[in-house]
Amino acid sequence: MKVATIVGARPNFMKLGPLSKILRDRHQEIIIHTGQHYDSELSHSFFSDLGIPEPDYNLGVGSASHGKQTAKMLEKIEDVLLIEKPDFVIVFGDTNSGLAGALATRKLGVSLAHIEAGMRNFDWNKPEEINRKIIDHISDLNFPPTEAARTNLENEGIIKNVHLVGDVTCDVLKENLSKAKKKSNIFSQLPIKKQDYLLVTCHKSTNTDNPKRLEKIITSISNLKQKIVFPIHPRTKKMLKEFKLYELIQKDNIIITEPLGYLDMLLVLDGCEKVITDSGGVQKEAFVLRKPCITLRETEWIETVKEGWNRIVDVESEDLCKIVNDFMPKKQPRNIFGQSGVSKKIVEIMEKFKV
Ligand code: UD1
Repeated sequence: MKVATIVGARPNFMKLGPLSKILRDRHQEIIIHTGQHYDSELSHSFFSDLGIPEPDYNLGVGSASHGKQTAKMLEKIEDVLLIEKPDFVIVFGDTNSGLAGALATRKLGVSLAHIEAGMRNFDWNKPEEINRKIIDHISDLNFPPTEAARTNLENEGIIKNVHLVGDVTCDVLKENLSKAKKKSNIFSQLPIKKQDYLLVTCHKSTNTDNPKRLEKIITSISNLKQKIVFPIHPRTKKMLKEFKLYELIQKDNIIITEPLGYLDMLLVLDGCEKVITDSGGVQKEAFVLRKPCITLRETEWIETVKEGWNRIVDVESEDLCKIVNDFMPKKQPRNIFGQSGVSKKIVEIMEKFKV
């Protein structure tokens, strides 16, 4: 088969690593990078850290409003698909790159596979929820990572060609943690000691683009007494400055860094005491690494909450500081993301798929 994989933003790149390896062993793969993320820390560093081949195409779309960004990607992806004529296209997750890739593919009648299908947080106003719903409904093959995701698809009438194979990112995490321990020197770069700091990430538009919410989150974080590592997404930095909140986190106990590469981030996560985040991937990684996680929005990773290791916070009405200090899981969780060899299973299912 000739398979095109379409990526563009940080959470897509991690999922591509092991899949790309298997695709290249058995088939022909072309990687199309939309260019949604272009900063080295958000894009290039993932390819080098994870040993992913350089993209065959970089469409250089960059940042813009959602409509403009998605439209530019759609046009450029279609051009590439018309030249390359793949048998199959794979898209990942819920980013605008995934949405544009899925639309371009199905409009050309090419077979489409969606990895990390069926995720829902039932907040229909969020860009990611819109993207994931549309992609699920137009894909030929859907690969939900969890039983809850499979049930979500079923509830929306998506039953045919749904394969519960597990979560690709757990393979990636396990493969790379030992590599990170050998290669990353992040602990000598930052003034932190293991188990003696909190890790904070916050970049979802639902938090960053709403001044009241962002102020609440940032005020609470600035009131925490613990040492904090806060790798800051460019959008968050921009909004903090725009809303005049950046000063609030200029404190001795808060270490602000650029976004971290994958290996550095894994080590910082593995070494922290607790995590405060609005990222989907970080919630799951925290769970796998047994780190109590406090989440600043609704979650699609509902199993992490049911197991007692993820506390969802309503930032507008609850006391984030108190929750961070008090939250402590009571029992060891079950191994819900434990499957390995997920990428291989996906490729084998694609090989057998007939339109
Ligand atoms: C996207 C995903 C989000 C994911 C996140 C991971 C969508 C709808 N959202 O959000 O689900 O959690 O990626 O990071 O696709 N910017 C830069 N440099 C870059 C990229 C972005 O400075 O390399 C800044 C720009 O100001 C840009 C803003 O970040 O306008 C937002 O970027 P965008 O691509 O729209 O989405 P993310 O917020 O990164």
